[in-house]
Amino acid sequence: MERFTFLDILRILSGILLINAVLSYWITSSTTWGYDGKYINPRYYWFQLGGQVNLTLAELSHYDGTDNRPIYVAINGSVYDVTSARHIYGPKGPYRFFSGKDAARAFVTGCFNKPDEFTYDLRGLDPEEARADVRKWQEFFGGNAKYWYVGVVQHEEITGDVPGECEHMKFPF
Ligand code: HEM
Repeated sequence: MERFTFLDILRILSGILLINAVLSYWITSSTTWGYDGKYINPRYYWFQLGGQVNLTLAELSHYDGTDNRPIYVAINGSVYDVTSARHIYGPKGPYRFFSGKDAARAFVTGCFNKPDEFTYDLRGLDPEEARADVRKWQEFFGGNAKYWYVGVVQHEEITGDVPGECEHMKFPF
């Protein structure tokens, strides 16, 4: 009896994948049954090979979508890759002000019209509320189908005044 060679198995697998893609495209107009999350993103696997990052704030600031680097958003020390939502976090996106920084405070207050709000300085906020909001947003980014956790950003010591009250909520759209 003839035995399957490795090449035969590759051919069969490729055929199944091709039929799957054609069928999916025919039914859903997408070759992946409408899925566009991180598990079909080669960058996600490439990142897994490289291991997690440990950035300074200055290094993080380069990941704001203004060049070919990935776009990172950080919340209270945890950094997430949000490159797949360039339309939201890229230079023309409505939430571009979160990119390349750790703006945990603005995630809690929703105050987007004060530059000093884009900081990880949570002093002066209700600690319970701040903790809950930070956790909520970390869970949002960490558990999102398109985004993934990439590592940490080192915080510098917080000095100076506590950011003032936010007077007006101003949304960018
Ligand atoms: C604490 C206040 C708020 C925070 C921290 C916040 C933050 C965010 C973030 C991070 C996203 C992007 C989510 C993603 O990656 O898919 C988002 C999306 C969005 N937010 Fe907010 N948001 C706040 C309040 C609001 C309010 C009050 C409005 C309405 C005026 C609003 C309207 C939107 C819209 C329309 C989107 C979708 C943008 C898009 O997909 O292009 N947000 N918000």
